Amino acid sequence: MAATATKPVVKVAALCGSIRKASYNRGLVRAAIAICEESLEGVEIEYLEVEPLPMLNTDLETPPDGFPAVVEDFRRQIREADCILFASPEYNYSIAAPLKNAIDWASRPPNAFAGKAAAIVSAGGGFGGALAQFHLRQVGVFLDLHFVNKPELHVNAFQPPPKFDDNNGDLIHQETKDRLKQVLLSLKNLSLRLRSN
Ligand SMILES: Cc1cc2nc3c(=O)[nH]c(=O)nc-3n(C[C@H](O)[C@H](O)[C@H](O)COP(=O)(O)O)c2cc1C
Repeated sequence: MAATATKPVVKVAALCGSIRKASYNRGLVRAAIAICEESLEGVEIEYLEVEPLPMLNTDLETPPDGFPAVVEDFRRQIREADCILFASPEYNYSIAAPLKNAIDWASRPPNAFAGKAAAIVSAGGGFGGALAQFHLRQVGVFLDLHFVNKPELHVNAFQPPPKFDDNNGDLIHQETKDRLKQVLLSLKNLSLRLRSN
């Protein structure tokens, strides 16, 4: 029997900057996972919680490269992923503290993000989190991340039509789901391009 070629699977680590129970940004991550399970072949998303991470304090590190167990676990999961999906709320035009904290832990030498592809999605007020996305891109330069540029997805969660279920943060807007799928496709393609280099 002829051997069947195994198709490459792109492993995505998804991080969300909101720890709110009915977070819209977390809703974007759940929708992304559902899209990959239902209609996007070759992409697997693992959601990594940032809430259990302690506030960054380098006193918690034990040189040369020891980290608290929960941090080490987080760093390993980032290392093992091909690429990163950031769901980034916008706080005061910038990155939310829980996400920045997680990024800072993973960036400690050796930087777990180095060379990976990444995409950012966001839900927020006025500009849908677009300003936080720009800050995150700036941080990503030092992290040596390669960002998907198009399409962009920043969702105004407070303007009609309703995009999210307020009770649980689930994404309920088909147009946004379609765009999210395009973001994930771009992330998959960029990851495979980087892998082949
Ligand atoms: C401290 C704070 C600052 C905020 N600043 C902004 C902001 O600069 N831009 C914006 O679009 N929304 C801002 N918001 C509103 C958030 O976008 C909104 O709370 C959103 O639901 C947060 O994402 P989540 O649903 O994933 O928790 C702010 C909210 C908080 C709590």
